[in-house]
Formats: sequence, C-alpha cells, structure tokens
Amino acid sequence: MKTRDRLRIAMQKSGRLTEPALELLKRCGLTFRQSRDKLFCFGEGEPVDLLLVRDDDIPGLIAQGVCDLGIVGRNVLDEYRLTAGRDDAAPLAEWRELGFGRCRLSIAVQQEMDYQGPQQLAGLRIATSYPGLLGEWLRTNGVDASVVTLAGSVEIAPKLGTADLICDLVQSGGTLVANQLRETDVLLESEAVLAGPKALPTDERGDLIELLLKRLDGVIQVRESRLLLLQTSRHTLDAVVRLLPGGPQPTLLPVAGQPDQLMLQALCAGEVSWRELEEIKKAGAREMFVLPVEKMLA
Ligand code: PRP
Ligand code: ZN
Repeated sequence: MKTRDRLRIAMQKSGRLTEPALELLKRCGLTFRQSRDKLFCFGEGEPVDLLLVRDDDIPGLIAQGVCDLGIVGRNVLDEYRLTAGRDDAAPLAEWRELGFGRCRLSIAVQQEMDYQGPQQLAGLRIATSYPGLLGEWLRTNGVDASVVTLAGSVEIAPKLGTADLICDLVQSGGTLVANQLRETDVLLESEAVLAGPKALPTDERGDLIELLLKRLDGVIQVRESRLLLLQTSRHTLDAVVRLLPGGPQPTLLPVAGQPDQLMLQALCAGEVSWRELEEIKKAGAREMFVLPVEKMLA
C-alpha cells in the first residue's frame, strides 16, 4: 500500500472555526491554493494540504487515516470518542489547545422552571446534538431522563414541545435568551483543538507533524506576548524592574554616550495596560514602547 507523503489536515468548511483556523495555519507558515470546489486545498509553502469538511466528520476522518490531523472543537472530538467505539478506528488525542472557538456545552431549561439541580431532570426529555456527552453526564449524576437527539435547531425543541429542556453549545448566550432558555449546568468547557491519532506516524509525515507542533507552540506562546522597551537611569532601575508585568528577567543594554542610562527590554506574557505603563513611568522609565511579538523560536 502506498502511503501519502504529504500531510493532510481536516478543518471546518464554513463556520465559527474556519477563519481563525486558517489564520493560525498561516501564522505557522502554511498557505493554500484554494481549489475550485474548495473541498481540497493544496498547500504551497509546505507539503501540507487541507480538507474542508463538516466538523462532525473530522474525528472519523482522522481515525480512519484519511487525514493526519484536524482542527475541531473539543465538543465534537469528545462526542466522537464516546459514541464511535468502532474497533478499526485509531484512538484519538488532543495534541494542542488552540485558544479560539471557546464555548461550553450546557444544560438549559425554560426560563420559568424553578431549577434546583440535576435530580429534577428525572423523567424529562432533553433535546441535544450531543447524546454521548449528555448521556455520560446523566449517568454520572444518576439521572434517568430521555435523550432526544436532533441534528440542529435544538434550541426551539422546548417551544415546539418535542423536549422539556436542552443540552447545547453556548457561546455568547444570545441563542438561549432569544429562545427564553436559561443555562444551568456546564457539562464541558470547549475550544478548538488540534486533534490527531494518539500514535503519530513514524514516516516523513511524523516529522512534518513535529515541525508543525513546534511552530504552533511558538505562535500560541507569542500570540498574547508583548515586548516592552524602555529607557531608565541606573538609580531607578530597581524600582522599574519591580513593576514589570511577569515574564523572564529583562535584558539591559548600555546607551551610547550616556553611562548613567540603560535600555531595558522585557518579554511580557500578556497585554501591558496603560495603567501599568503609567506606573512604570512614574518609577523613572522614559521612551517606552510596547510591541506585539510575531514569531518566536526558543
Ligand atoms: C451553536 C449552538 C447554538 C449557538 C450558541 O450553533 O448550537 O445554537 O451556537 O451560540 P450563542 O450562545 O453565541 O448564541 P452554531 O452556530 O455553531 O450552529 P449549529 O447549531 O448549526 O451547529
Ligand atoms: Zn445551534
């Protein structure tokens, strides 16, 4: 059997994860020639191609070896792990959390219900697209309710009378409010993850995946990082350093022709606020710059 020598990544064709996923891959140096049907995108920079599919199909495509990796919500991946259970499929793993597409899988009841806790759901009908995750939660809580599996539009089931409450994804909460529903229990905190087989391939594709993971780590690590540059005199240095927001030790450089002055450079783990800058300035810093970090290779 001929093995593929190009890596194949599956991702959502159109939806909330599509744009941020493409942006992330671009930052990792992967660019694609969009093919006409847009199902398959040929990778130009590296031998890595994209498959644009329905997000529910992504775990299965990886498990069957059609794709090597996938960018998918943890909710979809965990649901697959709970419901697929075919023995010809390779076990899947979450290789990285990607920091976008954050949402939660929650129980939501009708606004007027006097909800006290899971026990109260016994005998009720719960509409969901996540029967695996909901079933597990019901078992954990020892609740005997009936699960009504729907492919979409779960939120209108109570109004239609096909269910008493729902278990669905909540991001902003707008959908719940619009349907007079109220979130009660969170079953799963989700975000986009890089999914792949538990055991990575041992050929060139394995090397490519390792390269990609290293780049991803660099991108994820610096995404929120800022480089802080400032000038300070030697006698205010200690006061300034004490106020620096987290991160490793700053680097100090001499300033030509001004032996009393130092240039300070510090990598900060997150945003640097105006308030923090003003405090540092009060302590004696001048000429302050906060720069975004684009790439980092440790
Ligand atoms: C999800 C979920 C809700 C909505 C929640 O659907 O099923 O309908 O998002 O988001 P909100 O809290 O910001 O309103 P999605 O848009 O992913 O589409 P789908 O239901 O067709 O899968
Ligand atoms: Zn929806």
